[in-house]
Amino acid sequence: MASQFGRVCSMLVASSRFCSLMNPRTTSVFVPKNLCLRMAGTSSSNAKAKREMVSIKFIDRDGDEITVNAKVGDTLLDVAKDNDVDLEGACEGTLSCSTCHLIFKPDEMEALNLDEPSDEELDMLDLAYGLEDTSRLGCQICVTKDFKGITLRIPKAQRDVRDL
Ligand code: FES
Repeated sequence: MASQFGRVCSMLVASSRFCSLMNPRTTSVFVPKNLCLRMAGTSSSNAKAKREMVSIKFIDRDGDEITVNAKVGDTLLDVAKDNDVDLEGACEGTLSCSTCHLIFKPDEMEALNLDEPSDEELDMLDLAYGLEDTSRLGCQICVTKDFKGITLRIPKAQRDVRDL
């Protein structure tokens, strides 16, 4: 079951009025990088350093498994970047590229009880390569303690929606 923080964060991610900022270049809604931290009550640099870590696994485009330690309160895109996992995130989390596309395992996604993606995330996912029922954008998902042990697959290819 998702933690209260996870639910609140997902709820806020889905609601552009309360938690997202408008990207002046794209007018897309995006999640500020520190949103998850603020929701977790860890916005000070001191608290950031003490954030809990959970182990998660990525499966890269070649099928190789990469286990990393993810900081609670980071987005999945941040986790990938911090651990040299090949997840592009070309628009840096501004919800305008879809290159941070990740696929959850169905049973794990159900257990996490993530809220539905926002309309803006769905628009990007519709154009992503290899869309599946459990696809999400890594820049829009905040890591919680409940993510411990999950596996995320990176699609074989990616599509930067801005190039279409
Ligand atoms: S990094 Fe571009 S949509 Fe997530």
